[in-house]
Amino acid sequence: EYAENCAKLNDVDQVAILEVNISCPNVHAGGKNFGCDPHAAAEVTRAVKAVTNKPVFMKLTPNVTDIAEIARACEDAGADGLCLINTLLGMRIDLNTKRPVIANRTGGLSGPAVFPVALRMVWDVYEAVKIPIIGCGGVSSAEDAAEMMLAGAAAVEVGAANLVDPMACKTIIEHLPAVCQRLGVDHISELTGGAHHG
Ligand SMILES: Cc1cc2nc3c(=O)[nH]c(=O)nc-3n(C[C@H](O)[C@H](O)[C@H](O)COP(=O)(O)O)c2cc1C
Repeated sequence: EYAENCAKLNDVDQVAILEVNISCPNVHAGGKNFGCDPHAAAEVTRAVKAVTNKPVFMKLTPNVTDIAEIARACEDAGADGLCLINTLLGMRIDLNTKRPVIANRTGGLSGPAVFPVALRMVWDVYEAVKIPIIGCGGVSSAEDAAEMMLAGAAAVEVGAANLVDPMACKTIIEHLPAVCQRLGVDHISELTGGAHHG
């Protein structure tokens, strides 16, 4: 199904890159997420790469022990880049009903609370692979975006912050030049991986 859909998107001019979310369950392998198993992650990467000439970015789940291992498997299978992280698996229990708050019992945790986890994972993956990383997870300010880039991200995505403030991305982009100036960089790309050197 991944390959089938990516083959269709290959013919759509407006699509610049394909970001492949491998955080969903593989029903043939006992419901385990594709992104939790390096072999399955590599298999999906190869299947998608075989049907498209657009850049393929694999979107990784944080719900693993060693995200760098999954990242390396995707890189070895031909991924052009990686995007991380997806949501962290979480849950709450309603004290009145003594039952899980959401019908599905567990759900994806996102937003500012996950930022340090996402940052650490971007850091780990930057050390493990050579392909570009899109940093994602809890970014809600230009300062967060800069921090994510210093950890190793070449670009940054913003999810939950848009639900709090629909103008979040615009505000972040508008504040980035001032943050770059404060950090003494002429071009934002100079930030990528900066915290690993020196
Ligand atoms: C309401 C909601 C829906 C999401 N749906 C998807 C999805 O369909 N595919 C996907 O790869 N990630 C999905 N995500 C995960 C986000 O893209 C992102 O990886 C994650 O929320 C962490 O970033 P954030 O804290 O900036 O939201 C969703 C997140 C939220 C909050």
